[in-house]
Amino acid sequence: MSIEKQSIHGQWSSRWIFILAATGSAVGLGNIWKFPYIAGENGGGAFVLVYLGCVALIGIPVMMAEILMGRRGRQSPINTMAYLADTEKTSRLWIGLGWMGVLAGFLILSYYSVIAGWAMAYVFRSASGAFVGQNAQQIGDMFAAFIGSPEKLLVWHSLFMLATMVVVARGVKEGLEKAVVSLMPLLFILLAVLIGYALSSGAFAEGFNFLFAADFGKVFYLCESVNGVETCRFTFGPILTAMGHAFFTLSLGMGAIMVYGSYMPKNVSIARATFWIAGADTLVALMAGLAIFPIVFANHLEPAAGPGLIFTTLPIAFGQMVGGRFFGSLFFILLVFAAWTSSISLIEPAVAWLVENRGLSRLRASMVAGIATWAVGILTIMSFSDWAFSFHFLGQKKSDGLFDVLDILTANIMLPLGGLLIAVYAGWVASRKLSRDELAMGDGPAYRLWYFVVRYISPLAVMVVLLNALGVFDSWLS
Ligand code: TRP
Repeated sequence: MSIEKQSIHGQWSSRWIFILAATGSAVGLGNIWKFPYIAGENGGGAFVLVYLGCVALIGIPVMMAEILMGRRGRQSPINTMAYLADTEKTSRLWIGLGWMGVLAGFLILSYYSVIAGWAMAYVFRSASGAFVGQNAQQIGDMFAAFIGSPEKLLVWHSLFMLATMVVVARGVKEGLEKAVVSLMPLLFILLAVLIGYALSSGAFAEGFNFLFAADFGKVFYLCESVNGVETCRFTFGPILTAMGHAFFTLSLGMGAIMVYGSYMPKNVSIARATFWIAGADTLVALMAGLAIFPIVFANHLEPAAGPGLIFTTLPIAFGQMVGGRFFGSLFFILLVFAAWTSSISLIEPAVAWLVENRGLSRLRASMVAGIATWAVGILTIMSFSDWAFSFHFLGQKKSDGLFDVLDILTANIMLPLGGLLIAVYAGWVASRKLSRDELAMGDGPAYRLWYFVVRYISPLAVMVVLLNALGVFDSWLS
């Protein structure tokens, strides 16, 4: 007999609402802002293929594990791990996994909110007609001037954090469910419109090939020209980035999906929900890529332009197309909403814990967590202007200072580590009964396949990539 608990924070109204909420968490800046720019920085096709492989072999099984642990524990990740430690008779050290998740969510949100602020600002730019008739150079200059103005970034970052705090304070169902139901489908349609524009840009084939034609030489070798001499060396850096992004885009490895799972009704199939979420998330990312890269090539822009990529490409399209002011504003509005439904999940584990263990009201808890995150976000803002510096890290050259440090620390290290621990917990540490009961797919081939992958394939893959990127195997490879 399985023990059925209820969450004190409420429950999703139905299966679809869970899927929508989790998709809302997954689909966000990661798909539309981050995926295209890191694909651009890492040479396109081969990187995309590695990313898709990571979603299938690591993302999907780990997501099922994370949801099932959350649904059994029915609390914030920290208390869920404590509950599992008791009921599954496992070490209380596993509670540390919950803590690492809260910390990762907090760090991610601190910069996530800054970028969401850029999107907010761009709603108004588009509406005011600032992009109309501007060429690629002018759009690029506009962006550079914008991110070099810390005071502007601060205003938008503050507004976005406030918006996040308001929804989180109102609780899981009220604010969140409504936003997701209507906005996600709209975002989808708008991306299709943008792909339509990209088709007419004259460089669709080039964009398509960049995204889907795999050239593995580019992924495994890091080339740099020093004093005019090009030197290349073997690197695992981009593979780590692809894997880290699979975690990031699916909201895995820090308890966000665990806490969403804890609000999930018992009668929902975890496997089916996971396929929907991962499928929709991947589709949106690929659509964003198909909308953006043709514009990049048609305008002779640099695919490796970095975090500014969508802000320096899509406005060109909006400036030229019929109804571009309207479509541009709508696009950035939807992007803000997509970021909003994601940011909520980044802070929910911390808020749920503050309510459970510190006895705060949801309002107070949201304020405490939100203000702390807001303050850390200021460091990211500074890093886009005065504090930028360049450095080498895990086989890649980085140059946005603190923003990059935070991004690499969270997406490339903390999330994969969290995912590894989740897979190990569900596959090795917890009883087999736990996963069999929660997944409720019987003991047939589907369950066994999952169990095998989560025990062997996912943890090994994460470990190999992490250790490689950290240079552990360097001496063997050179
Ligand atoms: N997945 C979201 C995106 O792609 C970001 C996000 C939300 C996230 N919750 C998360 C990332 C939890 C990692 C962990 O934009």
